Amino acid sequence: MTQTMTQVVDAFEKARKYNRADDAIAQGLYPYFKAIQKHGGGSVIVDGEEYVLTGSNDYLGLTQDPRIREASKNAIDQYGTTCTGSRFLTGTLEIHAVLEHELAEFMGKEAALVFGAGFLACATSVVALCARHDLVYFDRENHASLYDGARLSWAWDNLRRFKHNDAEDLERQLKADEGKPGGRLVYTEGVFSMSGHIGTVDEVATVAKKYGARVICDDAHASGVLGPRGEGAHVHFGIEDKVDVVVGTFSKSFASVGGFIAADREIVDYIKHTGRPFIFNAALPGPSVAAALEALRIMRSEPHHRENMWKNVNFMRSNLLNLGFDLLGSNSPIIPVMAGEEDTAIRFWRGLWDAKIFTTPSLPPAVPSGKAIIRTSYNGAHTQDQLEKALYAFEHVGKALQIIR
Ligand SMILES: Cc1ncc(COP(=O)(O)O)c(C=O)c1O
Repeated sequence: MTQTMTQVVDAFEKARKYNRADDAIAQGLYPYFKAIQKHGGGSVIVDGEEYVLTGSNDYLGLTQDPRIREASKNAIDQYGTTCTGSRFLTGTLEIHAVLEHELAEFMGKEAALVFGAGFLACATSVVALCARHDLVYFDRENHASLYDGARLSWAWDNLRRFKHNDAEDLERQLKADEGKPGGRLVYTEGVFSMSGHIGTVDEVATVAKKYGARVICDDAHASGVLGPRGEGAHVHFGIEDKVDVVVGTFSKSFASVGGFIAADREIVDYIKHTGRPFIFNAALPGPSVAAALEALRIMRSEPHHRENMWKNVNFMRSNLLNLGFDLLGSNSPIIPVMAGEEDTAIRFWRGLWDAKIFTTPSLPPAVPSGKAIIRTSYNGAHTQDQLEKALYAFEHVGKALQIIR
């Protein structure tokens, strides 16, 4: 009997052939993984040079606040550097409970749960809450963490995507599903991370409620930014009763890392005991919990950080618009500047980099083809000088590349 041998392909061949990044580095056109030597709020040091930073998510400019640094250092002394285990087992610290209590109160919810990352909080909100026959409705622009949560769960089988920020399209889809079995869950965001649009959470939630759907809002970029004290989209729109679950992250306005879910006690309890990405992940370490807690207390009591942020954001938005840039209708601290083709975006980034402005281009597949952007954001720690320097560079590079006249 003869045996035919099939040629086995090396599974690592794809990695060996991948040379896009190397090519870009060789041409000096690689904008990613820049190693920051020192952080200074509105600026950073890279290779010994100072750059104005317009790409961070530190919306309230609190990452260098001495009180937050101190709280984090003290937590190292008390709890050590890490928990080394799941919240379920040996990873729950007293300070997790304090943060959960204060966060729930701040968000106007019965309970909260702290996660090791915002990504995990978002993914778990889908994995735990979407059961086999439930119908799940996503704003098309929802973050990858929600989509990946859907892939890990039954939601993927019954996922509907409605047009971005379009409650009418959502209604059309909910109506078409009338009579079908299963629960309904609608996922949207308080502020969308690429377009910088504030979510139409009020309209979306009103439609959702009409069809008996539950509403989950990812406030990763809305916490600290929207609402009179930064509580998020549900308070900003006065629809606390229509947003059932608020999910978010500590890696932006909270000057830390980690994530959270805030909801009714029974929902939080259910997620806590069934959400696999939560259960099988080491707990958020004490120093990170302490930083988030201190940031929450500052956010609650010191409105000037948010006021400064909005002042800076409004200054940049109106000036960039006056220069003729297309900002995709952004109305939040995230201001995308349209570049167009990928190549133009990379050259735009390089010109800004040479002018000592640190920006982050977003290229396909993160954005649609031909719609590459320079994603900028502004915060309460930027000085007027830094903003003017950034504007000057945007104007000159934008003109040189004929993005503006
Ligand atoms: C909208 C949105 N949701 C969730 C996340 C995940 O948060 P983290 O990076 O803190 O894990 C991000 C992060 O960028 C985000 O932009």
